[in-house]
Amino acid sequence: METLHIPQTSDKTEIYKAIIPQIEALLATESDLIANLANVSAVLKEAFCFLWVGFYLVKNDELVLGPFQGPLACTRIRYGKGVCGNAWKESRTIVVPDVEAFPGHIACSSLSKSEIVIPLFKDNKVVGVLDVDSQFIHHFDEFDVLEMQRIAQILEEKL
Ligand code: SME
Repeated sequence: METLHIPQTSDKTEIYKAIIPQIEALLATESDLIANLANVSAVLKEAFCFLWVGFYLVKNDELVLGPFQGPLACTRIRYGKGVCGNAWKESRTIVVPDVEAFPGHIACSSLSKSEIVIPLFKDNKVVGVLDVDSQFIHHFDEFDVLEMQRIAQILEEKL
Protein backbone atom coordinates (compact mmCIF):
# COMPACT_ATOMS: atom_id res chain seq x y z
CA MET A 1 0.00 0.00 0.00
CA GLU A 2 1.56 3.28 -1.02
CA THR A 3 -1.31 5.70 -1.15
CA LEU A 4 -3.26 6.80 1.85
CA HIS A 5 -6.95 7.45 1.28
CA ILE A 6 -8.36 10.13 3.53
CA PRO A 7 -12.00 11.20 3.12
CA GLN A 8 -12.43 14.90 2.37
CA THR A 9 -14.43 15.68 5.47
CA SER A 10 -13.98 17.43 8.78
CA ASP A 11 -15.90 14.59 10.50
CA LYS A 12 -13.23 12.84 12.54
CA THR A 13 -15.41 9.74 12.97
CA GLU A 14 -15.21 9.26 9.22
CA ILE A 15 -11.47 9.90 9.16
CA TYR A 16 -10.71 7.36 11.90
CA LYS A 17 -13.04 4.88 10.19
CA ALA A 18 -11.04 5.29 6.99
CA ILE A 19 -7.51 5.24 8.41
CA ILE A 20 -7.72 2.41 10.96
CA PRO A 21 -8.11 -0.36 8.35
CA GLN A 22 -5.29 1.26 6.35
CA ILE A 23 -3.03 1.23 9.42
CA GLU A 24 -3.93 -2.44 9.96
CA ALA A 25 -3.04 -3.18 6.34
CA LEU A 26 0.25 -1.30 6.54
CA LEU A 27 1.32 -3.15 9.66
CA ALA A 28 0.15 -6.54 8.46
CA THR A 29 2.93 -6.73 5.91
CA GLU A 30 5.78 -5.17 7.92
CA SER A 31 7.40 -6.40 11.12
CA ASP A 32 9.99 -3.68 11.67
CA LEU A 33 8.99 -1.54 14.64
CA ILE A 34 10.66 1.71 13.52
CA ALA A 35 9.14 1.42 10.04
CA ASN A 36 5.69 0.86 11.54
CA LEU A 37 5.97 3.72 14.04
CA ALA A 38 7.17 6.00 11.24
CA ASN A 39 4.22 5.16 9.01
CA VAL A 40 1.66 5.48 11.80
CA SER A 41 3.06 8.96 12.58
CA ALA A 42 2.73 9.87 8.91
CA VAL A 43 -0.83 8.58 8.62
CA LEU A 44 -2.03 10.50 11.69
CA LYS A 45 -0.23 13.69 10.66
CA GLU A 46 -1.61 13.58 7.15
CA ALA A 47 -5.13 12.60 8.15
CA PHE A 48 -5.60 15.22 10.87
CA CYS A 49 -2.89 17.86 10.25
CA PHE A 50 -1.88 17.68 13.90
CA LEU A 51 1.02 19.90 14.92
CA TRP A 52 3.17 16.96 16.05
CA VAL A 53 2.67 13.20 16.06
CA GLY A 54 5.28 10.77 17.23
CA PHE A 55 6.63 8.15 19.55
CA TYR A 56 8.95 8.01 22.52
CA LEU A 57 10.39 4.62 23.43
CA VAL A 58 11.44 3.47 26.91
CA LYS A 59 15.21 3.00 27.00
CA ASN A 60 16.68 2.30 30.44
CA ASP A 61 15.19 4.90 32.76
CA GLU A 62 13.95 7.41 30.23
CA LEU A 63 11.85 7.95 27.12
CA VAL A 64 13.88 8.51 23.98
CA LEU A 65 12.50 10.17 20.86
CA GLY A 66 11.43 7.77 18.12
CA PRO A 67 9.82 8.28 14.71
CA PHE A 68 7.76 11.44 14.48
CA GLN A 69 6.26 14.03 12.12
CA GLY A 70 6.35 17.71 12.95
CA PRO A 71 8.71 20.27 14.43
CA LEU A 72 11.94 19.38 16.21
CA ALA A 73 11.29 17.75 19.58
CA CYS A 74 13.16 17.11 22.81
CA THR A 75 15.03 13.82 22.62
CA ARG A 76 14.81 12.51 26.19
CA ILE A 77 12.09 12.64 28.83
CA ARG A 78 12.60 11.26 32.32
CA TYR A 79 10.19 8.94 34.14
CA GLY A 80 7.38 10.99 35.65
CA LYS A 81 8.32 14.17 33.78
CA GLY A 82 6.03 16.04 31.39
CA VAL A 83 2.86 14.57 29.98
CA CYS A 84 4.75 11.67 28.38
CA GLY A 85 6.68 10.76 31.52
CA ASN A 86 3.46 10.86 33.54
CA ALA A 87 1.58 8.65 31.07
CA TRP A 88 4.48 6.17 31.43
CA LYS A 89 4.55 6.39 35.23
CA GLU A 90 0.78 6.09 35.61
CA SER A 91 0.40 3.55 32.75
CA ARG A 92 -2.58 5.43 31.38
CA THR A 93 -3.69 7.71 28.59
CA ILE A 94 -3.47 11.37 29.52
CA VAL A 95 -5.45 14.10 27.75
CA VAL A 96 -4.28 17.65 28.37
CA PRO A 97 -6.95 20.11 27.15
CA ASP A 98 -4.70 23.12 27.87
CA VAL A 99 -0.97 22.51 28.11
CA GLU A 100 -0.44 25.71 30.08
CA ALA A 101 -2.59 24.28 32.85
CA PHE A 102 -0.61 21.02 33.12
CA PRO A 103 2.10 21.33 35.79
CA GLY A 104 5.44 20.22 34.38
CA HIS A 105 4.34 20.12 30.75
CA ILE A 106 7.43 20.03 28.51
CA ALA A 107 7.00 22.59 25.73
CA CYS A 108 8.78 21.42 22.60
CA SER A 109 6.89 23.95 20.49
CA SER A 110 5.18 27.10 21.70
CA LEU A 111 2.48 26.38 19.09
CA SER A 112 1.27 23.31 20.98
CA LYS A 113 -1.93 24.06 22.90
CA SER A 114 -3.34 20.64 23.77
CA GLU A 115 -2.01 17.12 23.86
CA ILE A 116 -2.85 13.43 24.18
CA VAL A 117 -0.41 10.71 25.23
CA ILE A 118 -1.24 7.01 24.90
CA PRO A 119 1.07 4.40 26.44
CA LEU A 120 2.11 1.33 24.45
CA PHE A 121 2.22 -1.88 26.46
CA LYS A 122 4.16 -5.10 26.05
CA ASP A 123 3.72 -7.84 28.67
CA ASN A 124 1.79 -5.34 30.81
CA LYS A 125 4.71 -2.91 30.87
CA VAL A 126 4.88 0.47 29.15
CA VAL A 127 7.48 0.27 26.37
CA GLY A 128 6.74 3.60 24.72
CA VAL A 129 4.14 6.28 24.17
CA LEU A 130 2.26 7.78 21.26
CA ASP A 131 2.25 11.56 21.70
CA VAL A 132 0.01 13.88 19.68
CA ASP A 133 0.11 17.66 19.95
CA SER A 134 -2.47 20.06 18.57
CA GLN A 135 -2.19 23.74 17.82
CA PHE A 136 -5.75 24.07 19.13
CA ILE A 137 -6.82 24.16 22.74
CA HIS A 138 -9.31 21.45 23.91
CA HIS A 139 -8.71 19.46 20.73
CA PHE A 140 -8.96 15.88 22.04
CA ASP A 141 -12.08 14.21 23.41
CA GLU A 142 -13.15 10.75 24.55
CA PHE A 143 -13.62 9.65 20.96
CA ASP A 144 -9.98 10.45 20.15
CA VAL A 145 -8.95 8.52 23.26
CA LEU A 146 -10.80 5.39 22.10
CA GLU A 147 -9.62 5.60 18.51
CA MET A 148 -5.99 6.33 19.38
CA GLN A 149 -6.00 3.52 21.93
CA ARG A 150 -7.25 1.27 19.13
CA ILE A 151 -4.29 2.41 16.99
CA ALA A 152 -1.95 1.75 19.93
CA GLN A 153 -3.42 -1.78 20.22
CA ILE A 154 -2.74 -2.45 16.55
CA LEU A 155 0.90 -1.47 17.16
CA GLU A 156 1.08 -3.54 20.35
CA GLU A 157 0.17 -6.65 18.37
CA LYS A 158 3.45 -6.15 16.50
CA LEU A 159 5.68 -5.52 19.55
N1 SME B 1 4.83 17.84 25.63
C1 SME B 1 5.49 16.60 25.92
C2 SME B 1 6.90 16.58 25.40
C3 SME B 1 7.04 16.02 24.04
S1 SME B 1 6.61 17.10 22.82
O1 SME B 1 5.23 17.54 22.99
C4 SME B 1 6.84 16.46 21.32
C5 SME B 1 5.47 16.33 27.41
O2 SME B 1 5.13 17.22 28.21
O3 SME B 1 5.81 15.22 27.80
